[in-house]
Amino acid sequence: MIVCVCNNVSEKNIRHAVEGGMTTVSELRANLDVGTCCGKCVSCARQVLRECMDKTVAAKKSHVTHIQQIHFHADAMAV
Ligand code: FES
Repeated sequence: MIVCVCNNVSEKNIRHAVEGGMTTVSELRANLDVGTCCGKCVSCARQVLRECMDKTVAAKKSHVTHIQQIHFHADAMAV
């Protein structure tokens, strides 16, 4: 889905930006030019940013839990 028509920025572009560490609309504006023309996309970009950040945080928590389980099983096997 295209979020910013003026600058051809897609939801996928924003997702990649979040995975790369961006966390604010200002960062998206500076790096992807989101909202730098007519500005009508800013609220949608903010919503997509928030959704992507929620998914990224959930994925990281899931990954950490999985790593903790691996360590737990490794420790149990070492005893
Ligand atoms: S749609 Fe993003 S600046 Fe116009």
